[in-house]
Parts: sequence; structure tokens; C-alpha cells
Amino acid sequence: MPAEAPDTAALDEAARVLRAGGLVAFPTETVYGLGANVRDPEALARLFAAKARPADNPLIVHAADPGAAWTVVARVTPLATRLAARFWPGPLTLVLVASADVPAAVTAGLSTVAVRVPDHPVARALLQTSGLAVAAPSANRSGRPSPTTAEHVVADLGSAVDVVLDGGPCAVGVESTVVDARGEVPVVLREGAITREDLGLGDDAPEGDLQASPGTSHRHYAPSCEVRLAPAGEGAALAAALARGGGRVGLVAPGPAPEGIVAVARVADAGALARGLYAALRAAEREAVDVLVVEAVAETGIGRAVMDRLRRAAQG
Ligand code: TXA
Ligand code: MG
Repeated sequence: MPAEAPDTAALDEAARVLRAGGLVAFPTETVYGLGANVRDPEALARLFAAKARPADNPLIVHAADPGAAWTVVARVTPLATRLAARFWPGPLTLVLVASADVPAAVTAGLSTVAVRVPDHPVARALLQTSGLAVAAPSANRSGRPSPTTAEHVVADLGSAVDVVLDGGPCAVGVESTVVDARGEVPVVLREGAITREDLGLGDDAPEGDLQASPGTSHRHYAPSCEVRLAPAGEGAALAAALARGGGRVGLVAPGPAPEGIVAVARVADAGALARGLYAALRAAEREAVDVLVVEAVAETGIGRAVMDRLRRAAQG
């Protein structure tokens, strides 16, 4: 899906709002972010309030290029330089030792900071035009599915956001891969579109410490309906069985929904499920289903990130 071209007047206004301490929601290739000037503690406080985000969950700093990203980093490791050269702009977030002058709201008081250069024309233009490094969590209310369209942002945050830049639906659909890049090999803290294979990691690679990425321990991606994971090929059967027990049941699967089941989304493969998952969770709410059955995909490539998010959604 081609991202929409940035509109100069809208970008200039959004950049002005950011510099003045306002909140700007903008599209990235992964999900929409809610941006605030990383150097403005008052703007950061408004950002946490708008999302109802727990203060112990640190933010990702978005920058126009690696040089701008490194302004919030105390030690740029050879690994970080290599990963940035290979994957930026793109859906990879690097955790590094933070500069002493990064506000505590950004790092949640940790000694580290997360940085990324997003790959979306609107995000890049906003970062360039504003000349700022921008702290931007996903632009949802805390605990809700991440937004992959401007409409999702407005539905969750409404007037708490000063400007929403609309760049159409996000191309990837799940959040960036977060890796600790302080050492010699990347340690994955959150799965995403840049896969372990991309990073040259085998299945025996060291696992990230959950404590090292506080956001992964919070309740996440949960719609108001129950989410049930079905093994591949068994979604329709599970949905039909659940519907026989009463209640309104929705299905997200590659195949058609049986009679009496709400066809929430048909997704051919893991990439399509990544793009459509959060919209499907929101659609299931609108359809007022009691249970949403989602068919599992293979845990290779982006399928790992999708299954990670699905399991969290299924936990409620
Ligand atoms: O794709 C994305 O990453 C999107 C777009 C907007 O860029 N952003 C996003 O931000 O997903 P958010 O705030 O929803 O998730 C940030 C994740 C959380 O799991 C948080 O704990 C982790 O990054 N994180 C941030 N700073 C960290 C740090 N210093 N150390 C470890 N994990 C960190
Ligand atoms: Mg988020």
C-alpha cells in the first residue's frame, strides 16, 4: 500500500505544534505514533496523560537520521552503527546507554534509551521539518490495540491530540523490533518486522530480559471482546463450536467464515495478518462480537511478531 505523499502546509503546522510543546500523531511504517518533543518535559507529561500510559514504560525516540538519533545516546556501539546502517530507516529500535540530559520521562528513569529512524515519508518529513528528536509511543490509549490508521488514533485519543497527520494505513502493521544493542550481538526485547533471521540470530540466541523492556510486561493489544487463538486451518471449526454455545463469534482466517459467524477479516498470510490484525481487533469491537477467533500463523519471519501480539491479546 503506497503511503500518501506528505502535504507541506499540514507538515509545517505539525512541526510548529511540536516545537511549541504540542502533541502530533503521525504515521510510521509500523503503526501510528503520538509524538512530543523529546526535550520538553511538559509536552512529555501531556503525552503520558493523553495515553493514560504508566510512567514506568519508557518511550522510543524517533529521529530523521542516525546522527539525530545519536544525540540522545551516550555510547554508540559498533553493533548499533552496523544495525543502523543496514536497517534504518526501518522498523528496528535500538536500546543504548542514554545521554545524561535525556528527560527521565523518556527513559522511565532507566540508564538506557530506545531510538529509531522510521521509514515513512510523512514521519521523515515531520522529523526533518521540525528539526527535533521526537518521543513517540504508539498513538493508542494504553492497553488498547495500536493504531494503524488515522481513524484509530482519533477514536482512541480524540481531542487529547493537537494534530493528526493522515498517511493512510500502515504498511507493516505491528510495532518495530526492539533490540538491546549495547553489547556485541543484538538481544531481541520485542519481536517485530525485522526478524531474528534478518538480524542473523538463530533460535538459540539469548532471550531479552523482560525487565529490560518494561512495556512488554504491561497489558497490551486487548480489545473489549475475548480473543481465542485457533491452530492453523481450525479457525472456522472453533468459531462454529463456540457459536453453538451461544454468543456472537467473529473470525479472522485465510478462509471464509461459516454461516452465523461474523467474517471480521480474511487474511491470506502472516504479512496480511500483521497489516490487518489491529484493525480486525477494532472491527470485532464495532461488530460487538463476544469472542473473536483468530487463526494462528507459522512462527517464522513476521509470523513471530504476529503470534507474540496475538498471545498478548488472547491473555486479555
Ligand atoms: O513501531 C514502533 O516501535 C512504534 C512506532 C510509533 O514507532 N512505537 C511503539 O512505541 O511501539 P511503544 O511506546 O508503544 O512501545 C515502546 C516499546 C515498549 O515495549 C518499551 O518498553 C520499549 O519499547 N522501550 C522503550 N525504551 C526502552 C528502553 N530504554 N529499554 C528497553 N525497552 C524500551
Ligand atoms: Mg504501544
